[in-house]
Amino acid sequence: MAETLRLWRHARLATCDAAARRIERGALLTRGARIEWVGEEQALPAVTPDESHDLGGAWVTPALIDCHTHLVFAGNRAAEYAERLRGRSYADIARAGGGILSSVRALRAASEQQLFDESAPRLAAFLAEGVTTIEIKSGYGLTLEDEAKMLRVARELGRAFPVTVRTTLLAAHTVPPEYQGRADDYIDAVAREWLPALAHAGLVDAVDVFCEGIAFSVAQAERLFAAARALGVPVKMHAEQLSNLGGSLAAARLGALSCDHLEYAGEAEAAALAAAGSAAVLLPVAFYCLADTHKPPVAALRSAGAAIAVASDCNPGSAPGTSLLTAMSMATRLFGLTAEEALLGVTRHAAQALGLAGQRGALAPGAAADFVVWNVGAVEELGYWIGFNPRRTVVRAAEVQRWPNQKS
Ligand code: NIG
Ligand code: FE
Repeated sequence: MAETLRLWRHARLATCDAAARRIERGALLTRGARIEWVGEEQALPAVTPDESHDLGGAWVTPALIDCHTHLVFAGNRAAEYAERLRGRSYADIARAGGGILSSVRALRAASEQQLFDESAPRLAAFLAEGVTTIEIKSGYGLTLEDEAKMLRVARELGRAFPVTVRTTLLAAHTVPPEYQGRADDYIDAVAREWLPALAHAGLVDAVDVFCEGIAFSVAQAERLFAAARALGVPVKMHAEQLSNLGGSLAAARLGALSCDHLEYAGEAEAAALAAAGSAAVLLPVAFYCLADTHKPPVAALRSAGAAIAVASDCNPGSAPGTSLLTAMSMATRLFGLTAEEALLGVTRHAAQALGLAGQRGALAPGAAADFVVWNVGAVEELGYWIGFNPRRTVVRAAEVQRWPNQKS
């Protein structure tokens, strides 16, 4: 059966492709689930579409991509946040057995169904803002079975909701109690046993490691990355968040898809990431919630030509937020991104951070026909409103989504 040819006309387009064009009188042609043609409406090829949609002159962008979340978790850490408000540091709480480990205890005690039920409303909040691709990490299980449980829930969310879920194994998030004082043995177990088992079960799209004084060293990260490479699994890194251990230089050298956080990175790291084609993922909600003051090297990333992405980092500790639009606002105000950079950060560059460059995150021929029609007068409004959602209609795989739209 021939794939449906759809015309989407009378639109203002922010293409977010390599040319990052703004087209005032634009149109899109989609065939099946992909974009076939994008351009000025007056230059439309002479075809007879099966369906035609008049978008009423509204702004259209690629659907949003959240390329870094820990969305599947149990309970919350509001009590720790209250402690931090009284002056205790995140690292201090972590060293005392709280932090990530307190979410590990909650996750291990939760059933798969509970985990799904707690995570689903968070996912729904992202989708309501026009997200159609989201990365979800493990990292609160820290046993083979509990990491598998988290990743299965992430996959199940992707089946239950109109969203593409990319899963990342972050077993190297912190040393679990069972391996206290034996971080090297833990990395060996993850690299030699867990990663192959979970990858063969189809649960792992990428591998991540928290490279930090309170987590894992560069040498340990490199061992895990070598195991991932042997399996053909791409790698990513939480790097230079609280200090500079040299993680991002190593990750760039090993061709990581992305390095994330980067508050303590500098010019050398920016140049290395740009040269390697590793996306620099900025996580301003964590910066905000930790009352951090050390900013990522945005000017250096910009001048090196790095792909700067912006993500929510949704997690119960450092970033309890479910709004990618708010992350865009924080990336502009707190880190100095331009409105255009913030938009590319949640579209084209976020796709690159997930290894989906060219397939998603741009209005371009060959890309997925995932896009959002917005109730805005200018696309700059997307990183401007705080707590207001200007989404009009979400189109995924060229289908107008009945949910989460009020009307379609
Ligand atoms: O990206 N940095 C490490 N991981 C998370 C925080 C996880 C947590 O505190 O639960 C982050 O900020
Ligand atoms: Fe994170």
